[in-house]
Amino acid sequence: MRLLNKNILLAGVALLAITGLDFSASAQEIIKFSHGVAPDTPKGKAAEFFKKRAEEILGDKVKVEVYPNSQLFDDNKVLPAILRGDVQFAAPALGKLNKWTQKLQVFDLPFLFKDMDAVSCFQDSDKGKGLFNSMTDKGMLGVSYWHNGLKQLSANKPLREPTDAKGLKFRIQTSDVLAAQFEAVGAVPQKMAFAETYTALQTGVVDGQENTWSNMYSQKFYEVQDYITESNHGLLDYMVITSDKWWNGLDPEIRNGLSQAMDEATKYGNDLAAELNMEQRDKTLKSGETKLVELTDAQFTDWQTAMKPVWTQFADQIGQDLIDAAAACNK
Ligand code: LMR
Repeated sequence: MRLLNKNILLAGVALLAITGLDFSASAQEIIKFSHGVAPDTPKGKAAEFFKKRAEEILGDKVKVEVYPNSQLFDDNKVLPAILRGDVQFAAPALGKLNKWTQKLQVFDLPFLFKDMDAVSCFQDSDKGKGLFNSMTDKGMLGVSYWHNGLKQLSANKPLREPTDAKGLKFRIQTSDVLAAQFEAVGAVPQKMAFAETYTALQTGVVDGQENTWSNMYSQKFYEVQDYITESNHGLLDYMVITSDKWWNGLDPEIRNGLSQAMDEATKYGNDLAAELNMEQRDKTLKSGETKLVELTDAQFTDWQTAMKPVWTQFADQIGQDLIDAAAACNK
C-alpha cells in the first residue's frame, strides 16, 4: 500500500516536471475589477485598496487585477461582461444602471440630497441596502455603495440662472433622469461615454457637462471649459456590482475575505472622497484655466425650482416610497 502511494507521488512529480504545470496555482481565483475613471480618484483609490486588502486577507488564494480608465470595458459594456464572467467587479455610477432597474434612478434626482451625510444616511438604511438586490432577476448583485460626491455644472459661459443653460448641449451619463433634468432647463442632453467627454467638449460637440470636482480635474475638463458653477445639484455615486451566480458560488472562505476587503475599501474610499474632491477643486481653480461661479441663495433656489418637476416625472418608475425615504435623510 505504502509502495503504491509512493509510486503515485512519483508519477505526480514526474507529470509536473514534464508538463511544467503547477496544480496549486490553478486554485487561485483571478478577480478582475474594471472601472472608468483615473486611479487618483475616490473610485480608483478604493479599487486599489480593495485589491490590496483582498490579497492581504486571502494570500495566494486570490489575485485582484484593477483596470482603470475604461481600459477593459466602459460602463455601458461592463455589466454584460460581468454576466459572461469576463470581469468580476465594476462600480458604475448609479445613474447608468437604469437599464437594469428603474429603482436606482432615485439617486439621479436633482437636488435630492443636500449633502453627503444625507446620501450615507439613505445608503445605510434598510431601503438603501435593499437596492443591492434590485437587479438579481438579471443576474447582478450589488455589494457596496461607493461615494464620489455632488456634481457641478461646467460650460464656456457662466451658468448663474437656469435660463443661462437654455439651448446649450450637455454631455450626460446614460440616464433618462439626467436627460429630463437638462430638458427641464431648456438645455439639450447628449448621452455619451465618459471617456469621450473631453474631446466632445474640446471640439464643441457639446457645450457643457456635469460632474464632480475629482472627475473634472482628473480628466482635465477645466482646460476646455471656461466656467464651473458650484451647483451641488445632483449626486455621482457608485454601486459595486458583481455576478450573483459567481459571488454565491465562491468558496465561503474567499467570499468572506472579499466581503471584509470590500467593507474596508468602502470605508477608506468614502472617508477619502470629500477630501479628494476638495483638494482637486483647489487644484482646478489654481490652474487658472477656468473660473468659479458661486450661486447666491436665490439663484440656487431657482435651479432647484426649475429641476424639481423631474421628481414627479419619475415617481412611478422609482417608487414614491424610495424618494420619500431618501428625502427624509436631509436633516
Ligand atoms: C461619468 O460618466 O461621468 C461618471 O460616471 C464617471 C465615473 O465613473 O465617475
